[in-house]
Amino acid sequence: MEDAFIEGLPKVELHLHIEGSLEPELMFALAQRNKIKIPFKSVEEVRKAYNFSNLQDFLDIYYQGMNVLQKEQDYYDLTMAYLERVARQNVVHTEIFFDPQGHTERGVKFETVVNGITRALEDGEKKFGISSKLIMSFLRHLSEADALKTLDEALPYKDKIFAVGLDSSEKGHPPSKFTKVFAKAKKEGFKIVAHAGEEGPPEYVWEALDTINVNRVDHGNRSLEDDKLVKRLVKDEIPLTVCPLSNLKLCVVKDMKKHPLKKMLDLGLKATINSDDPAYFGGYMNENFKAVSDALGLSKKDLETVTKNSIEASFLDRKGKDALLKKLDDYMKKAANDPAPSQAAKHKPGKKA
Ligand code: ADE
Ligand code: ZN
Repeated sequence: MEDAFIEGLPKVELHLHIEGSLEPELMFALAQRNKIKIPFKSVEEVRKAYNFSNLQDFLDIYYQGMNVLQKEQDYYDLTMAYLERVARQNVVHTEIFFDPQGHTERGVKFETVVNGITRALEDGEKKFGISSKLIMSFLRHLSEADALKTLDEALPYKDKIFAVGLDSSEKGHPPSKFTKVFAKAKKEGFKIVAHAGEEGPPEYVWEALDTINVNRVDHGNRSLEDDKLVKRLVKDEIPLTVCPLSNLKLCVVKDMKKHPLKKMLDLGLKATINSDDPAYFGGYMNENFKAVSDALGLSKKDLETVTKNSIEASFLDRKGKDALLKKLDDYMKKAANDPAPSQAAKHKPGKKA
């Protein structure tokens, strides 16, 4: 697939950890601003450390990286830097995770984190025309009691937080460990998502569906090991937020040519393409689309399907989804007639704030 087609495609991101968009340059700037010591001498040294053999290897560095985030303005700058990047990549809607416990356990107030991120999301919508939803994730290596405490802290921010999720070290921490907290979150009106089947077995995906009642599964790669589970995901149209470069960097797949995305689409699964932790895994949305598309030989039709899946899987209302489906349809029509569609159909930023 030509790069120009991917670059111009109006894209929707559904799996992005805002802390995972912390580029080494900003990490150094914030460390200096907040007088925090970091165990690296240069940006190059940081990038060299980004070599992971599994999820835990990455998480150790990811939690260390977020130590530089202290003040509301830091969270604003982090989020605005992400939005500036993806505005240039024609991302039109994004649903962003944050890990409050990674901050509150260091003494940063919940409100500092939420206010900084949401102020940037509001400014980003005015500046770039990118709409967004915020998803609060519980750290699964911590207790359910800790998650319940965090949910209580989120209740006054229901107007800012749309959904709750589950992330961090998967193996040994199944969704069923969090049955009570997700039941409460659902009762409070939050949508539910969970990382499942990234490293963990298909049973964890079953639990995500039947024990915590997810609206989407984050990753879900290992679902393919269980035919019954695949049938269930297809029947209930449960979206999977797949992250190709993350899968490669964390050795969930050995080779991009062996990535299961095409197989998922062929099976009728509602697979989508996302970046996960772009500062750590080598790329944002366009890089993920290009890497998986080159390796698997995806067609324009495949990428249209993936983008349609993302729009339908988003937490936008019907009107919002229809507007994006129309934008995608217009782009596909242009792409059929125009040899270089990306320039003509580039997403036009809104008025500068
Ligand atoms: N936190 C940030 N990125 C993650 C991932 N890929 N899996 C689980 N937890 C995460
Ligand atoms: Zn993730």
